[in-house]
Amino acid sequence: MSEFERYLKEQIEECSPSPVRDAMEYSLMNGGKRVRPQLLFDALEAYGYKKEAGYPMAAAIEMIHTYSLIHDDLPAMDDDDLRRGRPSCHKAFDEATAILAGDGLLTRAFAQALRSQTGSRQKVMLIENLSKYAGADGMILGQSLDLQAEKRPSSTLEQITQIDRYKTGQLLILPLVSAAILAGQMQDIPRWITIGTDLGIQFQIVDDILDITSTEEEMGKSLSDQRNHKATFVTLLGLEKARRQVEAYTKEIEDLLAQMDLKDSSSLRRTIRTLQDRTN
Ligand code: IPE
Ligand code: IPE
Ligand code: MG
Ligand code: MG
Ligand code: MG
Repeated sequence: MSEFERYLKEQIEECSPSPVRDAMEYSLMNGGKRVRPQLLFDALEAYGYKKEAGYPMAAAIEMIHTYSLIHDDLPAMDDDDLRRGRPSCHKAFDEATAILAGDGLLTRAFAQALRSQTGSRQKVMLIENLSKYAGADGMILGQSLDLQAEKRPSSTLEQITQIDRYKTGQLLILPLVSAAILAGQMQDIPRWITIGTDLGIQFQIVDDILDITSTEEEMGKSLSDQRNHKATFVTLLGLEKARRQVEAYTKEIEDLLAQMDLKDSSSLRRTIRTLQDRTN
């Protein structure tokens, strides 16, 4: 991923120098796993495209994801001091700068997406989907549902699934759908939505398991679910059943992928396995 890392850095360094730009760069160029870019590259590869065709859109999605993490860590939300192995943005800078850095990454993402080397119709579709999956019908809705759940004495499995589908699933659908748009394979979009939704739940259950079983050092972020009374698959089902759910979602995703007419989905399959078995 080092070439993509360089690309990301160049994009952010185009912004005018300011403390906000420094904070944007601090959080973006800070050891994220780059799961969403990887998914976009893998899905493009599955269609026989080179990953470079996905750089602008992958950068846009990673900017939005990073903004969501900066805001997620703020005292008004999860109130976490550690992110990607370093002090959270509002700790390294200050709250106002962190809010603006998030805003800066979010707005920059749209210009970034427009740099995709594709036709105008496809660019419009990319931007429309960026707005949809990141917005108040997408990831933001999930964050809102998550905050509402904190205030309830308990949540049902259905409610937790709904939260994960939005807060995590929407930004995992986005790279898959974006790859289909870039490859001109619009008929596949509904299938990618189903796969991305399942992947979001799989990914968030693993995140919730690691929140209990891992350490802040290993994860590089604060582990605050208990302190924040988060309702998760783990609180409801316990670790063993939650782990079995992860395996069931992985299997379901693999079955769905097998039903698609793709040139070579081996990288994508590998990534999905890695996400199931990850330790950070
Ligand atoms: C963390 O996402 C937020 C969740 C949706 C659980 P990642 O685990 O992909 O975080 P980074 O990008 O590697 O920091
Ligand atoms: C957040 O979920 C998902 C986002 C949209 C940022 P979490 O609150 O569980 O993510 P972490 O554990 O802080 O990374
Ligand atoms: Mg949160
Ligand atoms: Mg959090
Ligand atoms: Mg978490």
